[in-house]
Amino acid sequence: MSSLTVHAGGLDLQNPVLLAAGILGTTGASLRRAALAGAGGVVTKSLGSVPREGHHGPTVVAVECGLLNAMGLPNPSYRNFQEEIEIARKGGRPVIASIFGSSAREFSQIARGLKADAFELNLSCPHAEKYGSELGRYPEMVESVTGAVKAAADVPVWVKLTPNTADILELGLAAQRGGADAVVAINTLKAMAIDIETGYPILGNRFGGLSGRAIKPVAVRCVYDLAAGLDIPVIGVGGITSWEDTVEMILAGASAVQVGTALQRGYGIFEEITVGLARYLERKSLTLEELRGLAGRRS
Ligand code: SIN
Repeated sequence: MSSLTVHAGGLDLQNPVLLAAGILGTTGASLRRAALAGAGGVVTKSLGSVPREGHHGPTVVAVECGLLNAMGLPNPSYRNFQEEIEIARKGGRPVIASIFGSSAREFSQIARGLKADAFELNLSCPHAEKYGSELGRYPEMVESVTGAVKAAADVPVWVKLTPNTADILELGLAAQRGGADAVVAINTLKAMAIDIETGYPILGNRFGGLSGRAIKPVAVRCVYDLAAGLDIPVIGVGGITSWEDTVEMILAGASAVQVGTALQRGYGIFEEITVGLARYLERKSLTLEELRGLAGRRS
């Protein structure tokens, strides 16, 4: 079998297929289970400085080719999550804490108070007032938040970028200037669904973020642009449901990928993807390193 080990974003990973933020990361037990099922690393649900209940329901709706969510960043706060991270670590894979705040100061306070193997800065949630993309769509905010967390943390810092912008590379460059060890692309696309019988928007928050198959081509393009323009690694996420999607993301330039919505199919997805990826590399006589960014080197 081809080796799938990779050093990406300051972490040594057994394989490049990670659990994305927000899907199962609400308890240490579910994170550990994803790790034991073969994920190369696991990302927690986004954690803030105080407990939040999130938006009123409905918070998730299935739409064509994906899921629309407006959870509203519900979380118990980072102060009540350290024990869950310790449980997750028993899965033997890096645990990356997704964190959010409304300012560089709030982000760095969380990074100082929480112990994880890396931080992923949520500068991209498209539906939470004062958080996520409300900061992350401005390059100067991305740079200052990243710089503040880098100064506060002694572990790698990844920055999750929003695709709801005209130029994602501008945001990636800002993260790089701030000292990020990697960028993660993409978070959900701002979207909406309306019930035609009642005439009301379906989500309690009216609009939310679209994930799943529908957004994969957008994610591939973003990863391609970022990988071409940045010196730091790009972690690809958005609509990955198979080993073929994973190969496509790596061809676009991703050093690793994250799987989210496809977890609806169960924990077996990690093994399914890693086995398929290893067989593909063997069949093509390529290493992961040789595969990465190959599409950008084709003339
Ligand atoms: C949420 O918890 O509201 C989703 C997080 C995100 O979209 O970043």
